[in-house]
Amino acid sequence: MYIEELDLENFRNYEKQQIKLIDGINLFLGDNAQGKTNIIEAIYVCAFGKSYRTLKDTELIMFGKDYCNLFLKYNKNNSSIETSFYIDNINRKQIKNNEIKVKKIADYVGEIPIVIFSPESLDIVKGSPTRRRSFIDMICCQMSKSYIICHQEYMKCLKMKNNILKKDSIDRNYIEILHEKMSVYIKNIVEQRKNIINKLNEYSQNIQKSITDDKEEIRLEYETDFLGKNEQEIKKYLDEHLYIDELRKSAIKGIQRDDLLIYINDKEVSKFGSQGQKRTALLTLKLANFEILKEEKGEVPILLLDDIMSELDSNRINFLLKYIEKYQSIITTTEDTFVRNIENIKISKVSNGRLEN
Ligand SMILES: Nc1ncnc2c1ncn2[C@@H]1O[C@H](COP(=O)(O)OP(=O)(O)O)[C@@H](O)[C@H]1O
Ligand SMILES: [Mg+2]
Repeated sequence: MYIEELDLENFRNYEKQQIKLIDGINLFLGDNAQGKTNIIEAIYVCAFGKSYRTLKDTELIMFGKDYCNLFLKYNKNNSSIETSFYIDNINRKQIKNNEIKVKKIADYVGEIPIVIFSPESLDIVKGSPTRRRSFIDMICCQMSKSYIICHQEYMKCLKMKNNILKKDSIDRNYIEILHEKMSVYIKNIVEQRKNIINKLNEYSQNIQKSITDDKEEIRLEYETDFLGKNEQEIKKYLDEHLYIDELRKSAIKGIQRDDLLIYINDKEVSKFGSQGQKRTALLTLKLANFEILKEEKGEVPILLLDDIMSELDSNRINFLLKYIEKYQSIITTTEDTFVRNIENIKISKVSNGRLEN
């Protein structure tokens, strides 16, 4: 699948812009603060129904305007599909897929599979477990609707549980009822996370070896309290640890604490990896992410590479370009010196919320 066209209206610093894309490398070139990342963000919003840069949809609306519109046309198995996203300044939001209103986000996410790689992605290898969990969650959500639903329901229960824990007198019976519900979701979520991490692990091994000429070995491990437990065992575990939650007045135990451990040559990369090793590990993870969607979902995802060329050395850039040249990618950059001997590329200049072709 590939995106044919993206139209922006009052989106960030774009008043009105039509962007035609090729099924190859689409390079957006421009100085800082011209609107390159805004293009990547617009595609993400069309795929997920929300942004990764802000929790407030209304921030996407151009300053001084009262609505914004995105329109995206993509080609899947030789037929064109149109998606649109609308938000206004009183937070009325509408997503349509081929003119039909999308009611539940779970029915929609995953239709346009994407892999996004930006300088902030380095937090997956460097930062807190939260970033690694959202990396895994993003793949799981694109792979399975049941994951999205279980995750949403779990988070609702967690919020209720946290509200109860904050009170002076705690209704334990109610919490145990919540635990019963949560254990069903936990079982489902843990199974799906485990499955995705196993697959990521398999794909990563080969990719890492290719990038490092067999010098480095990568290994991924899923860290959770719930592996191999059935629903009763999960509930029992939550009940037994409730005293810790009560002491801290917040739910400590649960899949909101899971982590993905990344080892290079048997050393945990977040603690012991060099800068270069962290970047390589991240490149490997992102390409493994790409392979999972391509092979297991059976659809070639769209690669969004935001300003990462300056983060990578020439060997890694060449590896990446060779890897992606057969697929559609949207790449933003402030300089295009790495673009040599590449066919199937369209370069557009971005300047102050406009494309100069
Ligand atoms: N809601 C908005 N309305 C108008 N302009 C915006 C809005 N949000 C961000 N911008 C502008 O967009 C520009 C940043 O765009 P961005 O795509 O992040 O730049 P870059 O080319 O560096 O990736 C800035 O000039 C910023 O002021
Ligand atoms: Mg940018």
